[in-house]
Amino acid sequence: MVAVEGKAGGYLIARLREAGIPPPRMGVVLGSGLGEAAPGLDDALEIDCRDVPGWPPCGVPGHAGVLRFGRRSDTGLLVQSGRVHYYEGYDMEAVTFPVRVMASLGVEKTFMANAAGALNPVYERGCMMLVRDHINLMGVNPLRGVSDGEGNPAFLDVSNLYDERTGDELLERSKASGWPMEGGTLVAVSGPTFETGAELRYMRLVGGDAVSMSLVPEALMAHHMGMSITAVSLITNVWDLRKPHSISHRDVLKTAVEAAPMLRGIIASWIELQGLAG
Ligand code: HPA
Repeated sequence: MVAVEGKAGGYLIARLREAGIPPPRMGVVLGSGLGEAAPGLDDALEIDCRDVPGWPPCGVPGHAGVLRFGRRSDTGLLVQSGRVHYYEGYDMEAVTFPVRVMASLGVEKTFMANAAGALNPVYERGCMMLVRDHINLMGVNPLRGVSDGEGNPAFLDVSNLYDERTGDELLERSKASGWPMEGGTLVAVSGPTFETGAELRYMRLVGGDAVSMSLVPEALMAHHMGMSITAVSLITNVWDLRKPHSISHRDVLKTAVEAAPMLRGIIASWIELQGLAG
């Protein structure tokens, strides 16, 4: 595992050196249709994921599979557009490969975004949910078989997985800017099916505010690797738990594309808050 991500890291470091771009200390991961949320970068270098040794190919419409490296306030920033999903048939090692490569490059702070369906009726289509906590119903944990560095299983404390202080500040800034965002709990499912009515009611009953098929595996791995994590779900659809309606991936993508520019403002605020400049 380490050899493969080390090879990817080595390839990327060589490309960065050649382009005169510092290794990234901040990493942004954007999911389905969220490419438009990508922050602007100084001296950007774009790398197709297919060129990176060991990178799993992205096969889902809306997931470009591109890495952009550059600077923001003189600090190296990496933006990954497109992710690998468990529902595509990849194992958790592949799903968390990008985040392990980020760690090997020296990324310390991550911002992860995805698309999610709302369980909480206060949410509206196109608004955002700051992920305060999660419930992993994927049936798998990416840290299974991963050691803590001393040969023990990764019995990781996940009670503080999402960076609380950055989250508080982002919520305050979003209120001041008029961006619709609330804190909530994300439920992760494996997909690829959307949820049955009974599943949706169950998820709401146990405390879920939104449901998605991504982000949680990467967040668990990033936490294991010592990175700070801020996560935001873009609400692409709102479930009516009394009468679940039909839904398609195309509808999810369409809303994601429409609302992505708002997320761009949130990401710019997140970058400012990191205080890594210099
Ligand atoms: N369920 C699961 N994943 C999703 C949804 C949903 O309703 N919307 C966007 N991703």
